Amino acid sequence: MHIHQQPNAEKVLSLLNQSGLPVTGLQENSFEDFFGCGEKNNPAGIVGVELHEGFGLLRSLVVAKESRGKGCGKSLLETAERYAQSKGLKSLYVLTDTASGFFARMGYLEVALVKVPDIIRNCPEFIHLCSDNAVAMRKDVQVGHFISIYP
Ligand SMILES: CC(C)(COP(=O)(O)OP(=O)(O)OC[C@H]1O[C@@H](n2cnc3c(N)ncnc32)[C@H](O)[C@@H]1OP(=O)(O)O)[C@@H](O)C(=O)NCCC(=O)NCCS
Repeated sequence: MHIHQQPNAEKVLSLLNQSGLPVTGLQENSFEDFFGCGEKNNPAGIVGVELHEGFGLLRSLVVAKESRGKGCGKSLLETAERYAQSKGLKSLYVLTDTASGFFARMGYLEVALVKVPDIIRNCPEFIHLCSDNAVAMRKDVQVGHFISIYP
């Protein structure tokens, strides 16, 4: 599964819109902290990492419907984790109401909202997603923790 950094911005927004995921704050974003799988100009899936003083917020993980179940989501997430580790982050957080089973399978643990660091809890995307059904999850990624090999 080919993974690349900074996928085509227009395609990123289109994938998010198709999947009903928030595009809060993304229009001005350079997508430097985003990864895509498949073709750079036409990624089949994407993920972004927001860096916040030692912690990271995973956002926008989505794989196009026709490309699901082929390892794209897993490769993207592993890449995001390695990237977070390379940036010296301690933990990655995600707020999800659609994919908690996937994140649990990938080693993320559910965490009470009050235990989420303020710097993450105050992110616009976090606030936007914070519905009654949303679950906050965390994975520790700091150096010393095992993370599978960069694809
Ligand atoms: C969640 C999502 C990114 C998974 O992408 P994917 O490319 O289909 O996932 P993969 O093929 O890499 O799956 C990796 C493993 O996770 C499992 N898995 C995938 N989706 C799962 C789910 N919803 N619950 C539990 N396990 C799941 C797969 O069976 C696979 O297991 P295996 O290693 O035993 O084969 C994709 O379903 C998606 O885009 N969903 C809609 C958007 C969304 O909800 N994003 C999360 C926003 S926070």
